[in-house]
Amino acid sequence: MSFSSIICEWYNENKRDLPWRKTTDPYFIWLSEVMLQQTRVNQALPYYNTFIKRFPKVCDLAKADENEVLKLWQGLGYYSRGRNLHKAAKIICYELGGKFPTDFNDIKKLPGIGNYTASAIASFAFKKPVAVVDGNVYRVLARYLGITTPINLPEGEKKFSSHAQELLDQKQPDLHNQAIMEFGALHCTPKKPNCLFCPLQKKCVSFQLDKTSELPVKLKKTKVKNLYIHYFIFENEQKSILLHHRNFDGIWKNMYVFPALEYIKKPTLKQVSLDFKSKFKLKLDAQRYSNKPIQHLLSHRKIQAYFWKVNLSQADFEKIQETHIYQITNNHDIKNYPVPVLVQNFIHAYLLDN
Ligand code: ADE
Repeated sequence: MSFSSIICEWYNENKRDLPWRKTTDPYFIWLSEVMLQQTRVNQALPYYNTFIKRFPKVCDLAKADENEVLKLWQGLGYYSRGRNLHKAAKIICYELGGKFPTDFNDIKKLPGIGNYTASAIASFAFKKPVAVVDGNVYRVLARYLGITTPINLPEGEKKFSSHAQELLDQKQPDLHNQAIMEFGALHCTPKKPNCLFCPLQKKCVSFQLDKTSELPVKLKKTKVKNLYIHYFIFENEQKSILLHHRNFDGIWKNMYVFPALEYIKKPTLKQVSLDFKSKFKLKLDAQRYSNKPIQHLLSHRKIQAYFWKVNLSQADFEKIQETHIYQITNNHDIKNYPVPVLVQNFIHAYLLDN
């Protein structure tokens, strides 16, 4: 039996029942694949259901306000995925007549769609014979074929893509691609793969050489950096507060946060106070909500966030709002703004009446 028939047979017996596997609508498949990048199935599922209910057609998504899209995306992380999804929906709706492109290269031209997502959409929705290569596929192939080239080097990427393409069943690329990913997710897992009951055991090079735990090889990436953020909740007598729209590039582009000072080294309180004075032209006369920071881990950052309550006169409040072009909101409406999860955690703990 070929590699493909073995994993397809395994898949038919072991696959999870997932909603995006019951459709060939490229819009739904695209939504699910974008959500599943760097995100576990169980975490993505409720978001997928919310999106298809709120935006049943690609043009519903295109017509939505970006704030709403990011709000619904809130908590999934990697927000550029949400922004690109919205951008691509507009292109499909307004420039392509609402029709999803069917060709791999045309799909890949859309914002936020790389090789993996384009292959997934082309094969699942249109049965195009293009092999997917994601983390699961790297692992299965590295072990099965005994490949020691690091997966995160250009040479490795080329090698794995070419092997994946060779092994692909051209007649049922959709089934083959789902099968190999599911096999990696459930059976040939990163830790404790189920080699004892593996249908590929006899032909698996790493099993034969007892090297399964060493594969795939991945070069270590740069280490996580610290980031210290001091957020200021500026409040006037009417209990309005100020929000900063991060309308520049970065992980939180177009999300809202409280006005802040950011540091890569832990600052002294004196430093914070000096920088506050220089940025806002006011003396820091404030109290922290808690002495302990809120900690938040991102893939490449460890954030420690401190929150200060700053009561202001109407004149100072307006001066800061105008010079920094901040948005005015209040404890009630703040719920409608897309904010990073760490800010959301603070809002829930301290600002909303639960
Ligand atoms: N991860 C990425 N794509 C997936 C899919 N279609 N099903 C399950 N997990 C996935």
